[in-house]
Amino acid sequence: MAARPDLCKTLDPHLIKRDFPIFTRTVHDKPLIYLDNAATTQRPQSVIDAVTEYYRHYNANVHRAVHTLSHEASVAYEEAHKKAAQFINARSWREIVFTRNATEAINLVAYAWGLHNLQPGDEILITIMEHHSDIVPWQMLRELKKIQLKFVDVTDEGRLKLDALSQLLTKRTKLVGVIYASNVLGTINPVREIITEAQRVGAVTVVDAAQAAPHLPIDVQALGCDFLAVSGHKMLGPTGIGFLYGRRELLERMHPFLHGGDMISTVTTESVTFNELPWKFEAGTPHIAGGIGLGAAIDYLAALGLENIYAHEQKILEYALEKLLQINNLEIYGPKDTKDRLAVISFNLRGVHPHDVAGILDEAGIAVRSGHHCAQPLMRRLGMDNTARASFYIYNSEDDVDALVDALKTAQKLFA
Ligand SMILES: Cc1ncc(COP(=O)(O)O)c(C=O)c1O
Repeated sequence: MAARPDLCKTLDPHLIKRDFPIFTRTVHDKPLIYLDNAATTQRPQSVIDAVTEYYRHYNANVHRAVHTLSHEASVAYEEAHKKAAQFINARSWREIVFTRNATEAINLVAYAWGLHNLQPGDEILITIMEHHSDIVPWQMLRELKKIQLKFVDVTDEGRLKLDALSQLLTKRTKLVGVIYASNVLGTINPVREIITEAQRVGAVTVVDAAQAAPHLPIDVQALGCDFLAVSGHKMLGPTGIGFLYGRRELLERMHPFLHGGDMISTVTTESVTFNELPWKFEAGTPHIAGGIGLGAAIDYLAALGLENIYAHEQKILEYALEKLLQINNLEIYGPKDTKDRLAVISFNLRGVHPHDVAGILDEAGIAVRSGHHCAQPLMRRLGMDNTARASFYIYNSEDDVDALVDALKTAQKLFA
C-alpha cells in the first residue's frame, strides 16, 4: 500500500496518548512505552466509556424483549455491525458476523463452510507466513475431510513467492487463505493479486486481516475476497470481540457454526429454521458490551483516518529501521525497507535470548513481545525459534524508538 503523504494529515502521537488512560501509569518507575501492539493495543477513554455506559445505563439482552433497555441495547449492538461494515466497505452490515476474535472468525469458516463443502482429495492453499489461527483450523479439516494442505513459501527476506503460489493452485484448490500483514515480519502481502489468482481456479478466499485492519484502509469490495477476519482488541476495541466479513451469497448458503438461542427463526421438536444474517451465525447472548466498545474503537480510528494512521506508522518504521540497523549484532527479520511493510519489527541481539532482551527492556518501562509469535512454521522456515518484537501504533513516536535503541544498547553491554 502506498501512502500519499501529500494527502495525509499528520498525527500527533503525544496528543493521541492523552486519550489513553494507561499512559498515566509507570512501569518500574519509568513512563510506559508500549511496543506490543501486534499482540493487543491499548484502549482510549472513549472505548472504556462506551462499555461502561452500556453497563451503567442500558444493560439488557439484545433481540429478546420489547422493553426500552433491550431496544436501546439492540440498536447500539446493530449500529456497531454497521460501523464495522463501513470500516471495511462491506456492501451490507448483514455481512458482518461478530465473533470472539479473528481466530473464531476463521474457525467459523472452517466449520460452517469447510466441513460441508470439501471432499477427500480437495486442496487448501495457505502460506507459510500464516499465524497459527490460519493454519490449525485447516489442519483440522485435513484430518476430518482427508484433504491436502499446501503452503506457499517466502523468500529469505520474508516476501511471499508469488510464482510458487500460481504453481500450487490447481483445479482441486477449493480455498485459499492468506495473511494480509505478517505479525512477525510486518510484510504486507499483495492480497488483491492473490485473490484474483485464487478466483481463476474458483477457490473461496479467506483473508486474515487481524494485523492489517488496525493499520491500513481495507476495502473488501475492491479486494473481492469471500471472507475476512478481524480482531477488535488489536484495533483499540475490547478483548473478546472481533468479526468475520463474509460475502452475503456465501453466508446465506452456509450452515450455522454454533447452534442454540438467537440464531433460529422457528424451532419445533422436529425441525429448525434459521435467523436472518448475521444473527444466524451469532448463537446465544453475544458480547454486547464488546460489540458496542468495538463500535467506539472504529469511531476513534475513523476520526483519525486510516490513511493518516498508515502514514504515521511509515514514518516511525523508517526511523526505527534506520536506527536499529545501526546497532551492531542486532539481527532484524523481514524486509529492510518500508515498502509494503507495517511497523512490526522482529529482531534478535546475537547471543542473548529474546526473553532476556524483553526483560531488560521491561526494566526500562518498554513492553515488547518475545517468543514464537504463534507462527512456528514461519519461524522454522527462516531458521529461528524466538525473536523479540517491537510493534508500533498511533500513540508511539520517534522518542519511543530512541528509548528502545538506548535500552537495547544497555542490554548489549550487560551481556557483553
Ligand atoms: C495475523 C494474525 N492472525 C490471527 C491472530 C489471532 O488473533 P486473536 O488471538 O485475536 O484471535 C493474530 C494474533 O496475534 C495475528 O497476528
